[in-house]
Amino acid sequence: MLRSLLLTAALVGIASVAQAAPAPAAQHPGNAATGRLLVFTCHGCHGIPGYRYAYPNYPIPKIAGQHYDYLVAALGEYRKDQRANPTMQAQAQALSEQDIRDIAAYLSSIRK
Ligand code: HEC
Repeated sequence: MLRSLLLTAALVGIASVAQAAPAPAAQHPGNAATGRLLVFTCHGCHGIPGYRYAYPNYPIPKIAGQHYDYLVAALGEYRKDQRANPTMQAQAQALSEQDIRDIAAYLSSIRK
């Protein structure tokens, strides 16, 4: 009896530790800290005031605070030439799939 009580207590202990652990990697595989460093070059276009490129004058989408899945999908499409934009295709093709997940983790973590 005492043995099974101790066993139960130990299992409950393990369960609460497991709950406190961060979400499994499969659910959120990007590393925001790495992504923060990777988006440095993106700011030249995506971080400008008013989100319009100076010359030629064209709109730049706002990507900070965008959803993780959307960012991974958009960058993946540029990377595979499934979304046509020479600038962003070149940008995305310079990134690995892990870079894209890291960038998406960072950008989606920004709250405005
Ligand atoms: C030279 C300017 C420039 C740079 C540098 C640049 N982008 Fe872009 N980005 C654009 C433009 C212009 C678009 C809109 C393209 C289109 O219409 O498909 C865009 C679109 C996007 C989109 C799609 C947004 C949406 O709402 O669908 C994402 C995501 C994105 N860029 C991420 C990045 C990331 C991450 C980087 C850095 C690795 C980066 N961009 C660097 C100009 C740039």
